[in-house]
Amino acid sequence: MRIGLLGTGNVARALASGWRGAGHDVVLGSRSPQERGGAQELREFTVVGLGEAAGHGDVVVNATPGTASMGVLGDIGAAALRGKVMVDVGVGFTGDMELSHPNYSLGEEIQAAFPETAVVKTLATVDSAVMKDPGSLEEPGTIFLSGDDADAKRTTRRLLGDLGWADASQLDLGGIVTARGQEHAAYLFLGVAESIGAYGFSFKVVRPRAA
Ligand SMILES: NC(=O)c1ccc[n+]([C@@H]2O[C@H](COP(=O)([O-])OP(=O)(O)OC[C@H]3O[C@@H](n4cnc5c(N)ncnc54)[C@H](OP(=O)(O)O)[C@@H]3O)[C@@H](O)[C@H]2O)c1
Repeated sequence: MRIGLLGTGNVARALASGWRGAGHDVVLGSRSPQERGGAQELREFTVVGLGEAAGHGDVVVNATPGTASMGVLGDIGAAALRGKVMVDVGVGFTGDMELSHPNYSLGEEIQAAFPETAVVKTLATVDSAVMKDPGSLEEPGTIFLSGDDADAKRTTRRLLGDLGWADASQLDLGGIVTARGQEHAAYLFLGVAESIGAYGFSFKVVRPRAA
């Protein structure tokens, strides 16, 4: 599958390396592709402009800061994103470490602004290292999906599987409105990280014992 990742940071590099390892055709999109493409940590990747990355992907991944994502996507434009699946990993934090989308979500804002693009929010509740290596966890965690389009969620599930997230570890929360829960879990994520002194953990949904 052709995947265009928007961003060249921790998340974009982790996902690019995981999906490339699974045989996908991956490029990263940067605001300054020539400069960033020469950076040591990006040498192994193809780095292009943001518009070109969006054009490359059947699946486009938003891995930009949540406070900048709408501007980035607006510059790329709805026409370039039409008909594509957008996997949205973004979470927006202001300088005061407040969510940029309280009682709402970036995922919903993207879906509302780009109705002809099928947005699936996922991977927002784990660190970039765990995103591409869930096998680093002591036991399987839970990864969440939110989105309105069933086909786009099927595609995203396959891509999560390619990163190592077993089907049983993937929990479909429902429509894109449920992205709120994933994004607001960032506060819980930061609290747990502080408490255990590590970022490489996962939440896990433990179901009730059968009656
Ligand atoms: N890090 C994690 O473990 C983690 C976990 C869950 C969710 N997330 C979310 O995933 C997204 C990406 O996280 P990250 O850790 O990869 O972030 P990051 O290291 O800061 O990278 C974000 C990338 O976005 C690009 N970008 C485009 N427009 C930008 C702008 N206006 N300002 C700054 N950068 C811009 C930059 O690439 P160029 O400079 O090449 O343009 C930058 O490298 C964020 O929304 C974050 O909240 C991160």
